[in-house]
Amino acid sequence: MTTTTTTSTTTARPAPAAPHRPVALVTGGTSGIGLAVVRDLAARGHRVFLCARTAQDVKRTVEELRAEGLDVAGAAADVRSREAVAELVAATVAEWDAPVSVLVNNAGRSGGGPTAGISDELWYDVIDTNLNSVFLLTREVLVRGGLGGAPWGRIINIASTAGKQGVLLGAPYSASKHAVVGFTKALGKELAPAGITVNAVCPGYVETPMAQRVRAGYAAAWDTTAEDVQEQFEAKIPLGRYATPQEVAAMVGYLTTDLAASVTAQALNVCGGLGNF
Ligand SMILES: NC(=O)c1ccc[n+]([C@@H]2O[C@H](COP(=O)([O-])OP(=O)(O)OC[C@H]3O[C@@H](n4cnc5c(N)ncnc54)[C@H](OP(=O)(O)O)[C@@H]3O)[C@@H](O)[C@H]2O)c1
Repeated sequence: MTTTTTTSTTTARPAPAAPHRPVALVTGGTSGIGLAVVRDLAARGHRVFLCARTAQDVKRTVEELRAEGLDVAGAAADVRSREAVAELVAATVAEWDAPVSVLVNNAGRSGGGPTAGISDELWYDVIDTNLNSVFLLTREVLVRGGLGGAPWGRIINIASTAGKQGVLLGAPYSASKHAVVGFTKALGKELAPAGITVNAVCPGYVETPMAQRVRAGYAAAWDTTAEDVQEQFEAKIPLGRYATPQEVAAMVGYLTTDLAASVTAQALNVCGGLGNF
C-alpha cells in the first residue's frame, strides 16, 4: 500500500514597508494632541501637513516647527466643509508631489449639557466636527489623496474613552466618538487586505486647551470651580492624573510603524486606567 504524504508549508506574507519619509496629514494640528502628533511624526521623519481653522495659528505653528528643523507645512481648513477637505488633501499632495500615506483625524470639539436643552445647532456641529469630518477626510484621501490602491497606509482616528462609555452631560460628544470607533472598526476590516491599517486612539483626560474649556463648562454646570472639577476628574483616574498630549502622540506614532502592521480595526485607550475596555 502506498501512502501519499502531502506537506503543506505556510509562508507568512511579508508586510509591505512604509514608503521613505511618508506624507502624513494631521487635522487640528495647531493645539493639544494634534500639535504633539505633528511633532512626533515629523521627528520620526514623516513629512507632515497640518490644518486648523485659524489661519494665523497654522502659520505660527508651521514656522515654529520648521525652526525646530521639522519638515512641516500647513493650510487653514475647516474639516466640516467638503470643499475645504478637498482643497486640503489636494494641497497636501501638491506640497511634496507625493501621495498621502498617513491620515490622522484629530480635529474635534467638546459639546454637551442637559440633553433636553441641546440645540439642533450644537448637536449637528459636534457630529459634523467629530464624525462627519472623519468620513469626508478618509474618503478624500482614499480617492484623491493617493491612499486608495497604495501598498501601505495608516489611518488613525482620535476618538475618546467617551467613544466606549457614556459621559455625563456629554451626549453629542459621546455619540460622535462612539460612531468614530464604529467607523474605524468597519473600515479596518475593509482595508486590512490592502495593507492599510485603521485604528482609533481613545484618550481619557488629556491636559490641553480643550480640557481647560471642558473643566470650565462643568464648573458652570455644577456651580463650583474648575479646580474642584479637576480634582473630581483626577479622583476617577486610577493613575491619578491627566495624560499628556505627548503620551497620546506616542501611541499614534507607534501605529504608524511597520511593526504595528498587525494592529488594525482597534480602539486603543491612553487614559491612565480610566477606561477598561
Ligand atoms: N483633551 C482631552 O481630554 C481629550 C480626551 C479625549 C479625546 N480628545 C480628542 O482629541 C482631539 C484633540 O483634542 P485637544 O484636546 O487637543 O483639543 P484642542 O486643544 O482644542 O485642539 C483642537 C484642534 O482642532 C482644531 N479644530 C477644531 N475644530 C476644527 C475644525 N472644524 N476644522 C479644523 N480644525 C479644527 C483646532 O484649531 P481651530 O480652533 O483653529 O480650528 C485645534 O488645532 C479631539 O478630537 C478631542 O475630541 C481630547
